[in-house]
Amino acid sequence: MNIVVKTFFGLEEVLQEELAELGYTATEKLNRAVRLKGEWKDVYFLNLHLRCALTVLVELHTFQIREEKDLYKEAMKVDWTSLFEVNKTFAVKGAVNSTIFKHSQFPFLLVKDAIVDTFRDKANERPDVNVKTPQIVIDLYVREKEGVLSLNTSGLPLFHRGYRQSTGDAPLNEVVAAGLIRLSGWDRKSNFIDPFCGSGTLLIEAALLASGIPSSIERTHYAFKNLKTFNADIWDELYNNAKRSIKELPCKISGADIDPEMVLKARRNLRGFSFGRFIEISVDSFENMPIPEGGGTLISNPPYGERLETDVETLYKGMGDWFKQSLQGYNCWIISSSEHGFKSLGLRPDRRIKLYNGDLECSFRKYAIYDGSKKGKYMQNGAETEVETETED
Ligand SMILES: C[S@@+](CC[C@H](N)C(=O)[O-])C[C@H]1O[C@@H](n2cnc3c(N)ncnc32)[C@H](O)[C@@H]1O
Repeated sequence: MNIVVKTFFGLEEVLQEELAELGYTATEKLNRAVRLKGEWKDVYFLNLHLRCALTVLVELHTFQIREEKDLYKEAMKVDWTSLFEVNKTFAVKGAVNSTIFKHSQFPFLLVKDAIVDTFRDKANERPDVNVKTPQIVIDLYVREKEGVLSLNTSGLPLFHRGYRQSTGDAPLNEVVAAGLIRLSGWDRKSNFIDPFCGSGTLLIEAALLASGIPSSIERTHYAFKNLKTFNADIWDELYNNAKRSIKELPCKISGADIDPEMVLKARRNLRGFSFGRFIEISVDSFENMPIPEGGGTLISNPPYGERLETDVETLYKGMGDWFKQSLQGYNCWIISSSEHGFKSLGLRPDRRIKLYNGDLECSFRKYAIYDGSKKGKYMQNGAETEVETETED
């Protein structure tokens, strides 16, 4: 089968890397997706194990169209009755970017009609549509004259992990969090800290990765379970194997947040995990958080000044000073949409990666804070200058 795994903009390469680590070879890198070959057991496995994926699609039919009614004809070529029972609810979702269609919803209605008519022709019965909580999700993708119909085997996007009970006003998407951790190249052994941890998404995703626990281990809903092809024995075996390969958290992971409410939420989210009690989270402003010795990786999603009221200049300048004074030996990564904030850090980034957090265009930047012996490049008053980093001793 042709499997297409969708992700967010900028995470295609880490998704490929993740697939390679799981023993798969992506045959093609697409825009916000990668394609590979596999069987049903691979579809189950990928849904359970991929951290940087949004949905796992199985391609059913690829075709060309010239006019609107061609889409109905093409959708009638799929034997929908062989895929799911008439008592399951379904929805047709996806993306259409084609001048053939005048109304944005019309292509989805055409496919819906074809599915309903296929069932009526064969069984004289029709399945119901449920747009909000469908049991079966059909994906339609049309780009000009080319179309693909696929089964969305995940259903709800895979960032619905099932572990996050409470969030703040600006939580990081779980798939983005997992992507940031991979992009940072964190070795999963050294210290990991998030001084603006909010509800704890980065800390939890880091701990799941380091302990070998699939990020979706708590998730029970997968659309593939509603398909006729579903083999519960294969799924149970994969799931139990995943549970058996969990190891102890091999590193120190800690966080802080200035807001006691957020710290409570993060602790609540951690409660369900075996590693929960090993992750220390303090109610502190970032500059007062205890820093584990020995260096490591810091990844943070501080306020951007967009959704949360903040004096960005003072906050980011304080962060830059703190990095220089207290975080020698750490690779500090910040995701933010605030260019003004980045400038106020007063540090020259070693890497910049363009990403999105929701609709906000963001940059994910690395600041390697060398220990005293090495030279670091800092910006002073907006101009880049090379200075010797200071040491504590
Ligand atoms: C964008 S949110 C982080 C969201 C988090 N990544 C999550 O997934 O829930 C920024 C957080 O920074 C916290 N914050 C603001 N100023 C702070 C400071 N000076 N020190 C520590 N935390 C601070 C806020 O309370 C808020 O929870």
